[in-house]
Amino acid sequence: MPADWLGVALLGLQLCSGTLALEVSVGKAPVIYAKNGTNVLLPCTFNSCIGIEKANFSWSHNQTEIFKGVIKNKDSKPEPYAEYKSSLKHMLPPDLALSKDNREFNVSLLLLDADFEDSGPYTCLVKNPKEKDANHSGTFTLKVVVALEKVDNTLTLIILSVAGGAIGLLILIMLAKKLVLFLLKKTRKQKECLVSSSANENTENGLPVAKIAPKSAPKA
Ligand SMILES: *[C@@H]1O[C@H](CO)[C@@H](O)[C@H](O)[C@H]1NC(C)=O
Ligand SMILES: *[C@@H]1O[C@H](CO)[C@@H](O)[C@H](O)[C@H]1NC(C)=O
Ligand SMILES: *[C@@H]1O[C@H](CO)[C@@H](O)[C@H](O)[C@H]1NC(C)=O
Ligand SMILES: *[C@@H]1O[C@H](CO)[C@@H](O)[C@H](O)[C@H]1NC(C)=O
Ligand SMILES: *[C@@H]1O[C@H](CO)[C@@H](O)[C@H](O)[C@H]1NC(C)=O
Repeated sequence: MPADWLGVALLGLQLCSGTLALEVSVGKAPVIYAKNGTNVLLPCTFNSCIGIEKANFSWSHNQTEIFKGVIKNKDSKPEPYAEYKSSLKHMLPPDLALSKDNREFNVSLLLLDADFEDSGPYTCLVKNPKEKDANHSGTFTLKVVVALEKVDNTLTLIILSVAGGAIGLLILIMLAKKLVLFLLKKTRKQKECLVSSSANENTENGLPVAKIAPKSAPKA
């Protein structure tokens, strides 16, 4: 019986180890680009393996708090604090889903009608009173731009030129190979001509020499 309890305790420890209970994630991209005038999802999720109770979260832009909310318990969606309920600039996405596994909670924020001054660092901070008020945060940078196409175009251009360069190089190599083969054939033919002509010289001019040679040899 004590061994069973030890097993359960160890399993719990293993599930929670490594991540230190509370873990906040703002996605993999360190920079998020958005077009001015559009609504932008500022991503943030957190994980807590011992569960939550009144987990408070806050969003800051340029180190200034812009939004605060709370998840009352594992079966409730995030709610804004009263003072941010009627914000015209930020709101919780209306389609936020409930946590499926009671471990990962989505506290992403919707930035409405992005303006250029909405650029800069965003920090998502989560506090979990159930974990001795442990807090954890994640930060990314938002860049509000006039058009996203320019970034995509340069990337496409780079890819195209690299691919084009590679194909060009292949064609060049193939042409060079053909040229070398052609030249080899030509020199081989020239060599054949030289061999046959020298053979002719041997038979026509060589023989007289050979005929003369024995005559002159006795003299010397
Ligand atoms: C985005 O910014 C450009 C340049 O200031 C402006 O011309 C355009 O109207 C803006 N678009 C929106 C949707 O606000
Ligand atoms: C967390 O949110 C609750 C509900 O709004 C509030 O009463 C409490 O003071 C908040 N705690 C912290 C540490 O901000
Ligand atoms: C968080 O919720 C938003 C809005 O519903 C959704 O677009 C986003 O994919 C969610 N993020 C994760 C990691 O589930
Ligand atoms: C926040 O900082 C960015 C640069 O990091 C700046 O472009 C932007 O205007 C600032 N916005 C506010 C509201 O201070
Ligand atoms: C986060 O927790 C640390 C101690 O664990 C504390 O010093 C710090 O003030 C807390 N930050 C916030 C914003 O509550």
